[in-house]
Amino acid sequence: MDSLSAPLPPIDRKEFRSALGLFPTGVAVVTANAPDGLSRIGMTITSFNSVSLDPPLVLFSIGKTAYSLPTLCDAAMYSINILGAEHQHISARFATSNGDKWTGTDVEHHDGLPFTLAHSIVAFQCVPYAQHDAGDHVIFVGRVVRIQRRGGTAPLVFFGGSYAALQPSTPISNHQEK
Ligand SMILES: Cc1cc2nc3c(=O)[nH]c(=O)nc-3n(C[C@H](O)[C@H](O)[C@H](O)COP(=O)(O)O)c2cc1C
Repeated sequence: MDSLSAPLPPIDRKEFRSALGLFPTGVAVVTANAPDGLSRIGMTITSFNSVSLDPPLVLFSIGKTAYSLPTLCDAAMYSINILGAEHQHISARFATSNGDKWTGTDVEHHDGLPFTLAHSIVAFQCVPYAQHDAGDHVIFVGRVVRIQRRGGTAPLVFFGGSYAALQPSTPISNHQEK
């Protein structure tokens, strides 16, 4: 049996998750209106990333068991709201299925564009560009049509399964052994 047809080695699920957690990320909440305009979804994600500058594309992935998935698959537009260091409670609220995610959540409406969370440091408003099936997740690629930049605060960070904040930046020296 050559190496191409050999069975792939199994990866321990727990070890995989814990290794992935060593990649620090920001924290975002993806939000969208259902196509009927009557209901809305929002869920916490760390799978957000940049893809392309021209055209302006971003991506995130959503687990196939997420309640929000069918709405996101059909949404005409969605927003990716990047959370600040003081928004840990918003991340926790939007990471809970079946909970009330909207009481006390301030949203902003924008004519002809998807709504955004008022408490985010920046929001990327997108129209769908592509969807890809990927194992137990669906990858969404969005084309950014507007950026709502609020700024003024440090981002919330997720690392090793816990929330973290960035330290004030310190220069990293190029250390060369002599
Ligand atoms: C910090 C953090 C990051 C998360 N990132 C993702 C993600 O990128 N994709 C995903 O499908 N779920 C992610 N989740 C889990 C969802 O937020 C969680 O399953 C949520 O309850 C889904 O909501 P829904 O079932 O109401 O749609 C994350 C949870 C936390 C706490």
